[in-house]
Amino acid sequence: SGVERLGDMIARAKTIVPFTGAGISTECGIPDFRSPGGIWTRNRPIQFEEFVASQEARDESWRRRFAMEEVFAAARPGRGHRALAALHRAGKIPAVITQNIDNLHQASGFAADRGIELHGNTTYARCIGCGQVYQLDWVKRRFEADGAAPNCTECDEPVKTATISFGQAMPEDEMQRATELSQACDLFIAIGSSLVVWPAAGFPMMAKNSGARLVIINREPTEQDEIADLVIHHDIGEALGPFVGN
Ligand code: OAD
Ligand code: ZN
Repeated sequence: SGVERLGDMIARAKTIVPFTGAGISTECGIPDFRSPGGIWTRNRPIQFEEFVASQEARDESWRRRFAMEEVFAAARPGRGHRALAALHRAGKIPAVITQNIDNLHQASGFAADRGIELHGNTTYARCIGCGQVYQLDWVKRRFEADGAAPNCTECDEPVKTATISFGQAMPEDEMQRATELSQACDLFIAIGSSLVVWPAAGFPMMAKNSGARLVIINREPTEQDEIADLVIHHDIGEALGPFVGN
């Protein structure tokens, strides 16, 4: 079966780089973006330019974030996260590249510099002007006191979750590290992503072009199934559960 072949490929590989999307966190209670019930089936994304230009858009963005707080605060690493962490401890996985913003790879045992967050992190906030970090509690208190999303106390520019919105520049260091990892691995595993959002979706092809074998694990077909050496259309927790160990 596909899962057995995956086991062989993992056993033979020296350097495995996982690339994860929202599908690895759905069993943790966090909705993905494009499945039925997903975030973008309920809300239109707020573009970065809108966030910069409009207090209305900033207020709406923060209201959405606060509405998700219980979900993010309660989420714990799932079987997929724990399997990758076990393979990391075993020395097979140097780092994980993720599009996710939920901090769950870090929570499962990847140090901050071993969980490459291409789309940032929603568990804290930053000023979009000077980069000053803010805790979400601070933003919430200010929002409740003023009835509006706050600006930075240092430079008066808007404060935003530390995530990358559509239209916002990708983080350079993370892109560079993800490039190096993709080019250096011998097995690249795309897990729980529809593989439609670029430039992130370019890493599987980059790995393949550098000689890695490519595995895709996703419930639904993806944009890039045809370039994969192995496609597993299966639940992630089921497919990776055998690698969780103790
Ligand atoms: P998507 O919602 O596009 O894709 C998630 C995929 O995971 C879907 O194809 C699901 O079928 C699959 N899936 C969900 N749960 C699963 C499970 N338990 N087992 C197996 N498969 C499962 O999410 P991403 O590809 O991560 O970016 O989205 C990419 C980017 O689009 C996000 O990082 C975000 C979003 O807009 C920005 O906001 C910049
Ligand atoms: Zn600032």
